[in-house]
Amino acid sequence: AASYPFYGAHQSGIVTAAQDRLHFASFDVPDIDRGELIELLRDWTLAAARMTEGLGAGPVGAVGGAYDAPPDDTGEALDLPASGLTITFGFGPTLFEDADGNDRFGLAGRRPTELIDLPHFAGDALVPAQSDGDLCIQACSDDPQVAVHAIRNLSRIAFGRAALRWSQLGFGRTSSTTRAQVTTRNLFGFKDGTANVKAEDTTQVGEHVFAPGGDSQAWMAGGSYLVARKIRMTIETWDRASLREQERVIGRTKGEGAPLSGGTEFTAVDLDTTAASGSPTIDKAAHVRLAHPDHNAGALLLRRGYNFVDGNDDLGRLNAGLFFICFQRDPRSQFVAVQSSLAGSDAMNEYVRHVGSAIFAVPPGANRGGFVGESLFA
Ligand code: HEM
Repeated sequence: AASYPFYGAHQSGIVTAAQDRLHFASFDVPDIDRGELIELLRDWTLAAARMTEGLGAGPVGAVGGAYDAPPDDTGEALDLPASGLTITFGFGPTLFEDADGNDRFGLAGRRPTELIDLPHFAGDALVPAQSDGDLCIQACSDDPQVAVHAIRNLSRIAFGRAALRWSQLGFGRTSSTTRAQVTTRNLFGFKDGTANVKAEDTTQVGEHVFAPGGDSQAWMAGGSYLVARKIRMTIETWDRASLREQERVIGRTKGEGAPLSGGTEFTAVDLDTTAASGSPTIDKAAHVRLAHPDHNAGALLLRRGYNFVDGNDDLGRLNAGLFFICFQRDPRSQFVAVQSSLAGSDAMNEYVRHVGSAIFAVPPGANRGGFVGESLFA
C-alpha cells in the first residue's frame, strides 16, 4: 500500500489494514488558551495530511527554504515514500477537565460519557510516566523511519503548545484488521488477531467500532475510542513453560493458531467441548475463553497492537511486551468488560504485567479545509 487518504468521514489508522510499525505519542498541553489549541490542531492537520501523501511536513521542505532559518521538515524521510503512513489523533480525559478539575478550554460539557477514567484492574502496575495524556497521536507505517519522522515533526510543530509526555515504538503488528492480511505473531510466539473485528465486517464495525451521532456527544459521530495498554511480558518465565502450558494459557495451538476445541485457525472457538477426561478442551482460565464475546455480554474490540522491546533491564532480561491498542464505540461495555474478566482470572497473568494505560476519544475524520477535531469546537 502506497498511501492512505488523510481526510474522510473516519480517521485512518483504525480499520486501515494494520501496518508493520508504530510510533505512538502522548502529549501534555501546557497553559495555552482555546484559540491556541485550535491553531495547534489546524497546524497538525495540514502537516499530517502532507506527510501521509509522502510530502514534507511543511510546504517549503527540508531543503530549499531560507538558508538562515531552520527547515520546516526535518529531512529523514526525504527519499522515502508514504509507506502506508496513517496519523490518528485523540483527545484524553484531561483535555476536557484536568486533574484539579479545571476546564481549561471550555470543553467540560462536551466530554463524552464514554471517555471514562479507566478503573483500576487487579494486577495493574501502572507507571504514571507511561500513562495518560491530554492528546495522542498514533503513527503507523510500513517503514519505522516514516512513523518516527511523523511524530518528530508533529512534536516540533507543537513546540510551546503540546509537550511529549511519553512515546512508544512498536514493531510486528499483533493484529490483522483485514481478511486479506495473514495473522502475524506476538512475542509469546502465538498468532494474534485471528478473532479480531476486521474491516470487511462492516456491520460489526458500524455497531462496535465507530460512534453514531446518537451516543453521548453528537460531535463524536464517526469517531471511536482508543484504549492503549503497555503490557510487559515476562518472556524469560514464558520461555521456560512447556508447550502444553503455553497452549493451555492461550487456548489455541501455537503452530496453526487453531482453537483447542478443534478445527483450523479460523474455526470458531467452541467454549463447550470437553476432552475424554471430562475437562474442558479450552481451559477455564484460558485467554481466549475469558476474552471471548460469549463470556463478556457480546463485547467486541478492534485490536491493533504492536510488539515492543525497549532494551533490557539490569538483570539481563529483555524489556519486552505488547503495546495493546484497541478501538471501540464504548469502552465501558467493551475494553473494561473484557479486561475485568481477564484481570483476575486469565492464566496469562502469570506472564504479563500492565505497566502503562491511556484512553482517548478519537474524533471523526477531518474535511479538506477543516481540521481534525473541528466538531468538538463547533
Ligand atoms: C485473543 C494474546 C492481551 C483481548 C488473543 C489471542 C492471543 C492473544 C494469542 C488468540 C488469537 C486471536 O484471536 O487473536 C494476547 C497477549 C496479550 C493480550 C499476548 C498481552 C500481552 C489482551 C487484552 C485484551 C485482549 C489486554 C482486552 C482487554 C482479546 C480478545 C481476543 C484475544 C477479545 C479474541 C477472543 C476470541 O473472540 O476468541 N489474545 N492478548 N487481549 N484477546 Fe488477547
